[in-house]
Amino acid sequence: MDDRIRAWLDGRLVLESRAAVDTSGRPASIAPVKGAKAIKYSPMIFGQFIEHHDRQVYGGLFCPGHPLSDEDGFRKDVIEALREIKVPIVRWPGGCFVSAYHWKYGVGPKRQPMWDKAWEVEDPNTFGTDEYVKWCRKVGCEPYICTNAGSGNEEEMSDWVEYCNLNVGKWGRQRIANGYPKPHDVLYWSVGNENWGGWEMGAKTVAQWGPLVRESAKMMRGADRRIYLLAAATPNEGWTLPLLKAAGYLLDYVSIHDYYGGGPNQRPYLEWMMQTGRPEATIVQTIGILKKAGFGGGKIGIAFDEWNMRGWYHPRGKNGRMDHAARRKNDIASLYNMSDAVFTANFLNACLRHCETVKMACFSPIVNTRGAVFVHDKGIVKRTTYHVFWMYTHLLQPNVVPVSVDCGSLSDGRRVVPAVDAVLTASDDGKRRVLAVVNKSPDKAVSFDISAIVAGTRGRAPLPATVLSGASTDDYNDIGAENRVVPVKTAFEVKDGKVSLPPHSIVCLEL
Ligand code: AHR
Repeated sequence: MDDRIRAWLDGRLVLESRAAVDTSGRPASIAPVKGAKAIKYSPMIFGQFIEHHDRQVYGGLFCPGHPLSDEDGFRKDVIEALREIKVPIVRWPGGCFVSAYHWKYGVGPKRQPMWDKAWEVEDPNTFGTDEYVKWCRKVGCEPYICTNAGSGNEEEMSDWVEYCNLNVGKWGRQRIANGYPKPHDVLYWSVGNENWGGWEMGAKTVAQWGPLVRESAKMMRGADRRIYLLAAATPNEGWTLPLLKAAGYLLDYVSIHDYYGGGPNQRPYLEWMMQTGRPEATIVQTIGILKKAGFGGGKIGIAFDEWNMRGWYHPRGKNGRMDHAARRKNDIASLYNMSDAVFTANFLNACLRHCETVKMACFSPIVNTRGAVFVHDKGIVKRTTYHVFWMYTHLLQPNVVPVSVDCGSLSDGRRVVPAVDAVLTASDDGKRRVLAVVNKSPDKAVSFDISAIVAGTRGRAPLPATVLSGASTDDYNDIGAENRVVPVKTAFEVKDGKVSLPPHSIVCLEL
């Protein structure tokens, strides 16, 4: 890829001052890419992630004895909220947590509490494999287990597949003895989590990783041939090419992660917007590596199975230990405003544009910390990001029609990103079409010319639209103000082939 394009996608491109002027309010337009065919996308890109971390599992989705929980201890309000956004898949149990997690202590009647070495806290182990799968079935999503490739080994991973999916053998019989006569049928499995990172327990070297993935994959497939396999990868050739060379023939996806800024404090809206090109840069880079290794064209998919605009905040105290009280700053409601929603829609649009290869993505996490759903003692708050998932899972059509967008630039005076991001989706017969369009400008409406994709725009009836926006970019939902930012059904006037996109908005427009 051209260095300048890469730098632009990366949000690093510094332009000469003349070009760095904000032109985000200038008229924009959309046109079909001639000769390009519509591609069906995988709904798995609307997936989620949950980790044993702070109040995500315990005190989040799992609260035995709580008045809002069901007979299994699962919060009913959380399940209902996740069913509403049709969550297709949830990755579990970590994250960094999994790289020192031994699943065998988390099944059966005698649970052994464990010291969680990643987050430095005791985990009661009362939410284990059986509870997780049961919860997934109630939510209506596919379970996706990430294995311990840190302190664990190939056999521990394949025993886990046996436990979940077989009715015979030591571990299949163990599951039956534990009260689950039917196989759990967990079809998605990943070898490891971020084993390339120095922070990860039992991190691996490049030379170790490919052979470990290959041997684990052979044994896991030996337990169940139906499973889809993923392995921890990066958009970096130095790591991922050797992995693909050693084990690519056994993999269905490579797993990549990214977060775009952290800390406990709010950052300016524009600063977040300047990051909006980065997910696509990572995707394009990873596609290049897959092609180079001979697995292009979707032969091996990308699972962007941890992503969020905000990285989680993991403060340490003076003694070097995790500061669990300070960590709660992840929960401050006012952090999760329109910048999160706009970034989320932009991220999903990037996945949709590259849907031939991006076949799964998991927002990280689903509950509490930076999640789309905040759980408290009396109920839940659906953060702004939740509503983006609702719009995309309810309103989009199942195929992506390639388009090109011409628009102004949003700038912080130093960097620029396109002000508008749009994806066109269509039904299988092409009769119903929905445009998912984001206007990143904090304060300017954009006149958007859709005449090239909609016939007879002159004098036609207004187009049905659903809009997510706020009174300002700082708007957020909170306890007592749950519905400050929610999708609004409306209709867009079409004047001379143009519609007006409100500032800092996500619009689903039915064409
Ligand atoms: O901050 C959350 C952590 O981020 C996840 O556990 C890990 O996978 C990623 O590095």
